[in-house]
Amino acid sequence: MTANLLNTLDLDRELSNQSPQEIIAYALDQFDNIAISFSGAEDVVLIDMAHRINPEKVQVFSLDTGRLHAETYRFIEKVREHYGIQIDVVFPDAYAVNNMVREKGLFSFYRDGHKECCSIRKIGPLRRKLLTVDAWVTGQRRDQSPGTRTAIPVIQDDKAFARPDGTLTKFNPLANWSSNQVWEYIRSNNVPYNELHDRGYISIGCEPCTRATGPGQHEREGRWWWEEATMKECGLHAVNTQK
Ligand code: ADX
Ligand code: SF4
Repeated sequence: MTANLLNTLDLDRELSNQSPQEIIAYALDQFDNIAISFSGAEDVVLIDMAHRINPEKVQVFSLDTGRLHAETYRFIEKVREHYGIQIDVVFPDAYAVNNMVREKGLFSFYRDGHKECCSIRKIGPLRRKLLTVDAWVTGQRRDQSPGTRTAIPVIQDDKAFARPDGTLTKFNPLANWSSNQVWEYIRSNNVPYNELHDRGYISIGCEPCTRATGPGQHEREGRWWWEEATMKECGLHAVNTQK
């Protein structure tokens, strides 16, 4: 185990007892070049919190897969205007998308699984983006997926996306919050939210791969519903599925 990893584990123990706001304050204080990854869903609370703590330091990016709901595009724009921030909307490599779609059509993920499409539309652009920062912040929570997210730490050493000659720190400030806590925060602070949440969508990803969930269903059941529960990660958070 490296000294660096030991530090990260100790820090995780310490930060785990702190509120998301305290974790974000710590992250913004420690790193000058740090970005929030915003999916256009309830992870908007990260932007709200960071904006209250240090508006000058809020760097945000969204991965535009080309397949998001129209509502999500409208919401990303609303957030940009509401907070008066820039949002770096990152696109996939046009050549790679073009090749995949020409060969396999626009809905190959229903036949072949979502891995190839996610890899081109999400992972490639994320990798490119993360090469430009020293730390990133995500809205992942333990309660989002019983299969893959139950052990998410508050801070981790992100080896999957680090520059070959550097380190990348990943913060998950909402790891220990429940969905109810997130929604309480949104309501009590008048945070704008994606209108899809009013129509039964809990977890929101790309339009063809997301559907509303009913009472008694776990939110993750609305994502890639034609695949097994253990496959419901797209690779953005590769570490969740590594043994
Ligand atoms: S996914 O891996 O299954 O797609 P999920 O939708 O649960 O992820 O979101 C967890 C966190 O991953 C979000 O809070 C956000 O930080 C990041 N994320 C997911 N999708 C995107 C996206 N399109 N753009 C930027 N960040 C994203
Ligand atoms: Fe493609 Fe679906 Fe993955 Fe979006 S979620 S990148 S449409 S497979």
